[in-house]
Amino acid sequence: MATFKNISDLGALEGKRVLVRADLNVPMNDDREITDDTRIQSVTPTIKALTDQGAKVLVLSHFGRPKGQVVPEMSLEPLAQPLANATGCVTLFINDCVGEAVGETVDAMENGTVILLENVRFHPGEEKNDADFAAALAANGDAYVNDAFSCCHRAHASTEGITNHLPSAAGLALEAELVALENALGAPERPVAAVVGGAKVSTKLDVLTNLVEKVDHLIIGGGMANTFLAAQGVDVGKSLCEHDLADTARDILAKAESAGCTLHLPTDVVLAKEFAAGADNRTTGLDDVGADEMILDVGAASAGALGDVLADSKTLIWNGPMGAFEIAPFDAATVTVAKAAGELSASGKLLTVAGGGDTVAALNHAGVADQFTHISTAGGAFLEWMEGKVLPGVAALEK
Ligand code: 3PG
Ligand code: MG
Repeated sequence: MATFKNISDLGALEGKRVLVRADLNVPMNDDREITDDTRIQSVTPTIKALTDQGAKVLVLSHFGRPKGQVVPEMSLEPLAQPLANATGCVTLFINDCVGEAVGETVDAMENGTVILLENVRFHPGEEKNDADFAAALAANGDAYVNDAFSCCHRAHASTEGITNHLPSAAGLALEAELVALENALGAPERPVAAVVGGAKVSTKLDVLTNLVEKVDHLIIGGGMANTFLAAQGVDVGKSLCEHDLADTARDILAKAESAGCTLHLPTDVVLAKEFAAGADNRTTGLDDVGADEMILDVGAASAGALGDVLADSKTLIWNGPMGAFEIAPFDAATVTVAKAAGELSASGKLLTVAGGGDTVAALNHAGVADQFTHISTAGGAFLEWMEGKVLPGVAALEK
């Protein structure tokens, strides 16, 4: 595995100005109240480790997509108090992230305290990865720490360009994430199984194409399984299905076969005539889907068989639900497979890594999130990692 610089590579930090890239792009309600503070909790150990060493910590983040303009509704100011509460550090907010005024405030701050800088995306140079803007960010720091895996797929000034100007390292959360991902897909214990679910093949084509080369079992669930079934001649009725991707689906099946990857599609399915909670439903084999019915979940026999696949595996990567898990009873297969994975994981028989917004919600719903080895809160970055892509923010920290 490539090795990454970490905080200890930065040397003594007493009195040093350390810029920490966090992802404070947290979900908020209409009153701008935080509805999920996972990302604040995630960067807290890194901020504490730095302030404990007497560093002056400057927190950098984006919020939303203001497209290079000042958009007051996307200010990071409401994050300053929650950050102070989480870290227990005195935390000041400054309404810019570059410039002399920032520099003067930083000079005046006490060692071991924190300043939250304003949204980096208020400047057009951030998303353009502009060299002058990266230099301006770096001008107020002596070192840089990236602790935002969920932003590492972006080659932006605060994730990539800045590393050209300052000694740079991965924070504690990023380091833990990279180790978990390496164990799951870089140098995993085999057999490796992957669950890929979700509505559409089209959004996960690159994921599927990469995984058939790397894993031993590829389990396909959700609406995208219908596209594969239809491509093999199954009549899927009025199920969600990308009929125009039949050739692509057959290509992936052929690639899996030649790579020695076993592709698992459902052999029984749960059908309903409407997509509604508690809708009348029935479970059948694949040859009995009515023209007015849709597939909303993997059947119990298939879900049980997947538990056996997991029991024979050493490593599992999971992205996307098996069925329409938001609505009972179509959450059954997701819950069955998630529980099987959780139990194997808790007893040390299976290393389990999951990621993506829907996936985290599905595993929480099944009550097994705590049992997983690692759950990534990243969306786009986790998918790009599953696609086998180099993440620019990570590559910039390689030794
Ligand atoms: C996210 O919430 O997915 C990250 O903060 C990245 O945001 P972005 O997709 O706007 O770059
Ligand atoms: Mg995103």
